Amino acid sequence: MKNIIITGASRGIGYELAKQHLALGNRVLTISRNVEKLKELAAFAKEGQYDFLGIDLTDFNQIDAVLKAIDSWDQIDVLYNNAGLCINKSFEDITEEDLLRSWKINFMAPYRLIQLLMPKFKSCSHVVNVSTMGAVQGSVKFPGLSVYSSSKSATVNLTELLAEELKDHGPRINAVALGAVQTEMLDEAFPGYIAPTQPDEMAEYLVDFGLNGWKYFNGKIQQASISTP
Ligand SMILES: NC(=O)c1ccc[n+]([C@@H]2O[C@H](COP(=O)([O-])OP(=O)(O)OC[C@H]3O[C@@H](n4cnc5c(N)ncnc54)[C@H](OP(=O)(O)O)[C@@H]3O)[C@@H](O)[C@H]2O)c1
Repeated sequence: MKNIIITGASRGIGYELAKQHLALGNRVLTISRNVEKLKELAAFAKEGQYDFLGIDLTDFNQIDAVLKAIDSWDQIDVLYNNAGLCINKSFEDITEEDLLRSWKINFMAPYRLIQLLMPKFKSCSHVVNVSTMGAVQGSVKFPGLSVYSSSKSATVNLTELLAEELKDHGPRINAVALGAVQTEMLDEAFPGYIAPTQPDEMAEYLVDFGLNGWKYFNGKIQQASISTP
């Protein structure tokens, strides 16, 4: 049984990730603001296998609760920094509030969570930062995503940097740059767009990458996309 933390599990890819890890018999802690959706996931868990935390990851004081929630765990095997916010708005219309909310959830929350959880990471622990193709240097860019892609690419940079700084004792840390996946986030940002990948399909890849990718990769940006070059 592996110990897994998944942020942003109340819907979309994170919800499917939690379901699949529970089906494998892993112990899972999920984190989101919408507690009702997190409670639903208990239906897929056996006794003692599942816990959830209803917190706002843009608030550092609330993030502190994560360490307390896993007090009894010897170690974290996989942390998925999956929670995210995608604002599709023209550059001229982006407000200070848009910038702050995006950078807090897409960059500062993963930063603080890794920092906070350091006592629970071992050399074989794996941090998976869920990113986007738009954050990959040289990839096709989409107008309207200035705040989303820039905040996600800061986390890609952090991935490379921490892999070096933490290489002697772990955790291993990688990012996965996703192409379009059919979730509510995509539908809200790009109404009517049909993605070639479903959340359960992407979750399947992320489950495998989370459990095994640390053996082969550190500080790498894996592209998981069949929609954008
Ligand atoms: N879908 C795509 O096409 C696509 C493409 C590239 C990358 N990605 C990335 O993949 C990840 C998952 O995307 P998705 O499409 O599944 O998104 P989603 O359906 O919008 O889910 C986002 C999750 O993040 C949580 N979240 C957002 N703000 C939060 C906050 N302040 N505190 C705590 N939790 C928060 C949401 O839960 P609550 O609202 O309950 O808090 C929700 O569970 C994201 O990082 C996204 O950027 C997605």
